[in-house]
Amino acid sequence: METTHVLCIIWCLITFCTATKVNYSGHKVIRFIPHNEDQFKYVEKFQFNPGKVDIWRGSAGIGIPLDLSGNEDELRTVIGSFERFGMNPGVLMNDLQEGIDYQLETNKGSGDANADFDYGKYHTLEEIQGWIEDITKRYPNIADMVSIVKSYEGREMLAIQIRSNSSSNKAGIWIEGGIHAREWISPATVIYMAGKLLEGYGEVENVTKAIDAFDWYIVPVVNVDGYKYTWTGDRNWRKTRTKHLLCYGSDPNRNWDNHWCNGESAGGHNPCSDVYCGPKPFSEPVVKGVADFILSKPTGYFKIFIDFHSYSQLWMSPWGYTKAKPKDYEQQEASSAATVQALTAVHGTKYIYGPIASTIYVASGSSADWTYANASIKYSYGVELRDQGQYGFLLPADQIIPSGEETLQGLLTLTQFVQNNP
Ligand SMILES: *[C@@H]1O[C@H](CO)[C@@H](O)[C@H](O)[C@H]1NC(C)=O
Ligand SMILES: *[C@@H]1O[C@H](CO)[C@@H](O)[C@H](O)[C@H]1NC(C)=O
Ligand SMILES: *[C@@H]1O[C@H](CO)[C@@H](O)[C@H](O)[C@H]1NC(C)=O
Ligand SMILES: *[C@@H]1O[C@H](CO)[C@@H](O)[C@H](O)[C@H]1NC(C)=O
Ligand SMILES: [Zn+2]
Repeated sequence: METTHVLCIIWCLITFCTATKVNYSGHKVIRFIPHNEDQFKYVEKFQFNPGKVDIWRGSAGIGIPLDLSGNEDELRTVIGSFERFGMNPGVLMNDLQEGIDYQLETNKGSGDANADFDYGKYHTLEEIQGWIEDITKRYPNIADMVSIVKSYEGREMLAIQIRSNSSSNKAGIWIEGGIHAREWISPATVIYMAGKLLEGYGEVENVTKAIDAFDWYIVPVVNVDGYKYTWTGDRNWRKTRTKHLLCYGSDPNRNWDNHWCNGESAGGHNPCSDVYCGPKPFSEPVVKGVADFILSKPTGYFKIFIDFHSYSQLWMSPWGYTKAKPKDYEQQEASSAATVQALTAVHGTKYIYGPIASTIYVASGSSADWTYANASIKYSYGVELRDQGQYGFLLPADQIIPSGEETLQGLLTLTQFVQNNP
């Protein structure tokens, strides 16, 4: 064959591969629940090295589910090994592609053509960036659009800064969503809350107070490249899109310079793993950009940091890298308890709170550990939003507004708690 033909074929293959979305037909999502110490030990061993299957949710102990996704071949051997330990799988989703299709088919929002922006709907990255520009222009007295950093692929990471002029020397609060690309409810919830804060200033007393007390930095989508890719290439993508030799992406929530790549997972140093720590701490521009921005302010300026994820309904504080208790454990627990109580009061949605390592799993190099230890933000959290696994990452859009409503009340309560317990 002539070289030109070979090149042409390669070109066609590349074009075909990049233009086609991953089809998850035949993939399932299943759940195992360890009921005793032996079973949990096996779960831990499996989680350390899950091979090809995709961990949707990890288990931190007896009674806590482990959710896995994979195709039938991948799952068959895994199921066999769990059954030998007396654990039978429950099926959360019979066909992952059907779940993906359902979420898009039902992504209709309120249908109000007069609304400038539909908060009850999942939006593409372009729509979100456009909204940030519009909404900050609509509230010029209290809002600014701030560009935090450019991503690996050159996209802007945009923040909404909300600041009233009630006083100087205010404390900062950092809210971020979308660090993991596939967790769509996270950006959607953050967007809803930012909209309600802006709308409510001067109208709703507790919102006005929260804005007068803090300077807010709100980033709906941290992992802009990954989020974009979940709309165009692979709905189930989690990491950034950094190009490595064989695979793409690092886990932006394992890339922070605090006990980086401690070795709690075999995949930490494997670029093809979903929990790849990256080649070095802060290798990912979007992660380093957030850290640099936080450090650009005086120490102690930021009083609250929240990194929103999904799913599992957990409100978590440091540490992630160890089950040892941090020195501010009591206040951190009390702040989470107050927050979760206010959140649950809205729609009855149950949340569990506690340190990351004992609530979800040991995870080193995660955002809240770094913001707590290296940036001295005592009130640092990693939050897993709705649901508990019925839809997982494919939560239908009709839950966006309820999720936003409850999380906003939790957040307002947290700001009150932190003012009273600085
Ligand atoms: C995915 O593949 C299945 C089975 O081949 C097919 O029926 C379905 O239409 C495909 N879905 C999409 C969204 O491409
Ligand atoms: C605060 O901002 C408002 C506009 O939002 C302006 O009318 C007012 O004069 C400002 N107050 C101070 C003290 O700067
Ligand atoms: C953050 O803290 C860790 C653990 O104390 C330390 O190893 C690391 O060097 C710190 N990173 C920075 C950038 O200060
Ligand atoms: C904030 O005010 C609203 C409206 O008055 C009220 O419904 C809500 O419970 C308050 N939330 C908190 C956390 O105080
Ligand atoms: Zn996540």
